[in-house]
Amino acid sequence: MDDLRDKYIGLIADAADEAAIEDLRVQAVGKKGEIALKMRELGKMTPEERQVMGPKLNALKDEINSALSAKKSSLADAALEERLKTEWLDVTLPGRGRRQGSIHPISQVTEEVTAIFADMGFAVAEGPQIETDWYNFDALNIPGHHPARAEMDTFYTHRAEGDNRPPHVLRTHTSPVQIRSMEKTGAPTRIICPGRVYRADYDQTHTPMFHQVEGLAIDKDISMANLKWVLEEFLTAFFGTTVKTRFRASHFPFTEPSAEVDIQCSWEDGSVKVGEGDDWLEVLGSGMVHPKVLAAGGIDANEYQGFAFGIGIDRLAMLKYGIPDLRAFFDSDLRWLRHYGFASLDQPTLHGGLVR
Ligand code: PHE
Repeated sequence: MDDLRDKYIGLIADAADEAAIEDLRVQAVGKKGEIALKMRELGKMTPEERQVMGPKLNALKDEINSALSAKKSSLADAALEERLKTEWLDVTLPGRGRRQGSIHPISQVTEEVTAIFADMGFAVAEGPQIETDWYNFDALNIPGHHPARAEMDTFYTHRAEGDNRPPHVLRTHTSPVQIRSMEKTGAPTRIICPGRVYRADYDQTHTPMFHQVEGLAIDKDISMANLKWVLEEFLTAFFGTTVKTRFRASHFPFTEPSAEVDIQCSWEDGSVKVGEGDDWLEVLGSGMVHPKVLAAGGIDANEYQGFAFGIGIDRLAMLKYGIPDLRAFFDSDLRWLRHYGFASLDQPTLHGGLVR
């Protein structure tokens, strides 16, 4: 029995892993193991011998079992120790920086414009970017044969043969939202509509997709003076200073009279500067809403008048933030976006001061 004991205690001490421990368990104390065989021999013994040998065998079995489990847990500890050595993590190392996205100047300026007009009591309206030619043209007093229809460089959507839905266009301006909001809310009304518009045009100050904000105010005693005040108030708040503007008599089919507004600027040293120089950049069209347009929107032109304007958001962004080329706005060049973008937590607001 002492030999048996020495043999197994030695083997257990030398076992290299859990599998070896399990083999030894089966060999020593398993159902057909050596101890079990010895137990069977008890039957052939005299009762006296059995009384001595029985407890000894049981004690041996217990001893081997506890040696097995002690070895097993020390192997597990060693394995864990080994793993911890290879998988350790230095929590004192500095973190890896993650770059933050930025707010695109167009989003920024749209927010600024919206804040200023909201402060003057204008609500925000929206309309679809794919419009019927009725909303985009006819309702705005631009009939089929009108030259303005060609001048707009319109993108028409494709229509399959036999499709007799009305022709659709990518809206060439935000003015169709004038009609849509007249239909929706009637008069009086005071809305702006910022959004995307499309024209087939491409150079330093034109891209085929750009942004406008439409404005519309209708009431019983609205005049051109109100229009001029609102626009000047807006421009002063937006640029944070009185900027030199030029109101030019102009023509739009949907307003009468009409005026275009330019802002004084210079284009020197690869940047555009507002409020200096001999150049002018046209930033908006405006006028008193044509009676036919009011009628198309279901409003009685004998009772109501209004003014409307359409401002180029992209142009405003170029001027305010000194960005010389409009095309770069939509190139998605990360260097450009990081340079001209705005930190999301550092945006100019009306209450925080729009100009930094
Ligand atoms: N829709 C005109 C344009 O895109 C701008 C405008 C809007 C003019 C409203 C007058 C009134 O050029």
